[in-house]
Amino acid sequence: METLASRLVPEAVKNLIPYQSARRIGGRGHIWLNANELEQGCHYGTGTGEYHRYPDFLPNQLAEQYLAYCLKGRDAQDLEALAVRGADEAIDLLVRTFCQPAHDKILICPPTYAMYEFCAESFMVETVKVSLREDFQLNVPEICARLPQAKVLFLCSPNNPTGNVILRDDLLTVLEASQSSTLVVVDEAYIEFAPETTVVDLIAQYPNLVVIRTLSKAFGLAAVRCGFLLAHPHVMTYVARLIAPYPIADPVAQISLSALNEVGVAQMQAQTTSLVAVRDWFMEQVRQLPMVEAVYPSATNFVLIRFRGPECMYAYLLERGIVTRNQAHDPALKHCVRISVGSKSSMLETLNALKEY
Ligand SMILES: Cc1ncc(COP(=O)(O)O)c(C=O)c1O
Repeated sequence: METLASRLVPEAVKNLIPYQSARRIGGRGHIWLNANELEQGCHYGTGTGEYHRYPDFLPNQLAEQYLAYCLKGRDAQDLEALAVRGADEAIDLLVRTFCQPAHDKILICPPTYAMYEFCAESFMVETVKVSLREDFQLNVPEICARLPQAKVLFLCSPNNPTGNVILRDDLLTVLEASQSSTLVVVDEAYIEFAPETTVVDLIAQYPNLVVIRTLSKAFGLAAVRCGFLLAHPHVMTYVARLIAPYPIADPVAQISLSALNEVGVAQMQAQTTSLVAVRDWFMEQVRQLPMVEAVYPSATNFVLIRFRGPECMYAYLLERGIVTRNQAHDPALKHCVRISVGSKSSMLETLNALKEY
């Protein structure tokens, strides 16, 4: 059956036979001598477990548990999850699966997360840009006009670095317009800070929609490197061909499974509630400072602040030992600094440093 995914995917990927790793081939037996592993486990100091065997070639248990976390008892019809090494790997995989170097294009809406353009460029895929409007919402007519040029549209909601959520009606218009031309990827790395705005529910209706998630943000597991790709089976069948064998190390799978069980999810939600309280308090305080021009609404764990020029507040804070993210390189974000929300004491120290300016 021809689908949009099968039309978009380059011939080389369509014809690709996934790498036949020992785990994928499998077998039945009591002696396993098929993967050039050591047969006995080794221990290097305390704390190392039994890691002499390769992990699952695709960690299905982890993918299923993530799906259960997303769906909260709802039906998983036409939706599959794939565990990857952070959301960044999902971005890279999507570019490599659907774009042909020196031939295809992706579409992005800056200011947004820099990895979409980086992954495309590193694969010799051109990036078409339609800037966000002044209120950081989508320029829907311009995006719709450019859709036929692009294989993949990358959107981010809540968006990094602007912090806002894309309007659902705008996304629906883009999805309607893209059905026969373009894959629409929504990066929901920060979704736990605005869970009601997820668009995962739209995948059944729009098989060209793909959602990216991560455990690096609200779950607090950035060092573990675990993310997920959520997509219709029509799309997943191609993406899963390109993923490296054994993408998820056993300790990563174990830690991630613990984070995604009932207790782990409850802990993440409690942390998120506390963080949001600190964030809102910090935003309120910062808004009152004379050198602050704007504090943008945030549905994330960071705050975007526009300072009155010409002094670089990023450099000023850095001198005080407070490392934030300078956004001034982006023409739409002149004099803007993005500040991640940390503990109350870190935010108090940051606030006091700003007050002393
Ligand atoms: C929007 C967005 N997507 C993806 C990522 C990367 O996530 P991961 O750590 O899962 O690779 C980030 C990290 O800052 C991000 O802001």
